[in-house]
Amino acid sequence: MVELRQRIDFAKIFARDQVFKLKRAWQISKSGKNAMTKDPAYNAANPKHFIPMIEKERYGERTETFDQMIAATHKHFWDPNDKRFIDFDQPFDMENEYIVDPRIFCIELKIPSVAEKLTEKQKIKLNNESFRWVLSQILHGEQGALSLSASLCHILKDPGAQEYAANQTREEARHVTGFTNYIKARWGTPYPAGPTLGRILEQVVSSDVVYKKIVGMQMLIEGLAMGAFGMAHQDTNDPLLKTLLKYTMSDEAFHHKFGKIWADRTIPKLNQTERNKVEDWSHTVFHDLLYNLVNPWEKKLIYESVGLDHKFVTEAFMKEMDRDDIIKEEMMQSNNIFRVLCKTLLKANIITERTRKHYAEFVDMEELQAEDDEVAGIDIANEGLDILEKINKERKVA
Ligand SMILES: [Fe+2]
Ligand SMILES: [Fe+2]
Repeated sequence: MVELRQRIDFAKIFARDQVFKLKRAWQISKSGKNAMTKDPAYNAANPKHFIPMIEKERYGERTETFDQMIAATHKHFWDPNDKRFIDFDQPFDMENEYIVDPRIFCIELKIPSVAEKLTEKQKIKLNNESFRWVLSQILHGEQGALSLSASLCHILKDPGAQEYAANQTREEARHVTGFTNYIKARWGTPYPAGPTLGRILEQVVSSDVVYKKIVGMQMLIEGLAMGAFGMAHQDTNDPLLKTLLKYTMSDEAFHHKFGKIWADRTIPKLNQTERNKVEDWSHTVFHDLLYNLVNPWEKKLIYESVGLDHKFVTEAFMKEMDRDDIIKEEMMQSNNIFRVLCKTLLKANIITERTRKHYAEFVDMEELQAEDDEVAGIDIANEGLDILEKINKERKVA
């Protein structure tokens, strides 16, 4: 009797193992074939397939592509909850001081009929609340970057690429904590994600396709963040924010590099159909983000905080402002975030003659082409790197 039971148990296990073996053969046959992967360093499995990750050969197939970036991680380490790095108790007079330059961050104050309705204190409030909205979107973007890099850990097959993605996940997690701490110190709570950013983040993070993840997050959203951080760093009156941005940028410069390496190794090898696909998708995302920048519908809650009716602000915006003119005027500044984005796409060859005209409406493409290839804000990132290296050395001695 005992023997029979044992035989049945073994038979059951054997049957399950056979199913696993079939599943393994099937998943491995599909592995590494994620759309448009042209370089082994970016080989990726289907996110629902774990078995290719435990193929014994895979562990030895580590490229050296990301080793330098991985080795540098400890140098730019920082902890948003450690006062040796950053102290969120530093005060700022939110009632009487502009937290950032309103000429850059508060488009509503450029609308004459809106500005004339407000006292100086209300203008400060509108500007600072507007910036709370910007930082809240950055916080949601950081959460998107955290979830996206974690998802890259599930699919990248090169163990070095996976280690890089795990490091990025950890760095994005400290950005989420850092911006949460800052918003808490200055306003208490963040605003919700605007529908445009929320929609784009959802699309990019939940996509199974590597190029959408890398172009969408590592190039477009990370590029946008580097531009926004650089602008805010230059135009803020709050030293605490300057420190937070500097440290964050030290990490972000590496994230941007990961996307750039992908583009350099992938774009030249795409066939025409694949290339068009990446180019068109990038333009759609760029266009959505661009118009979101000057979109008064998404900021209803902010207007209410100074007693303005959002319908009135929207009407005044429509009557008194030309959206395309504002964009063109802002793009003239060399650190404008969308100009920075255009440059990123152009230098990565994701803008060709076919789509150039869409961007040329707003920015001088010849001028962009002639500029160097450096990511925006790299000088601030390097400054942060030096400070962090020093603090980390002192921490080790202590
Ligand atoms: Fe980040
Ligand atoms: Fe990042």
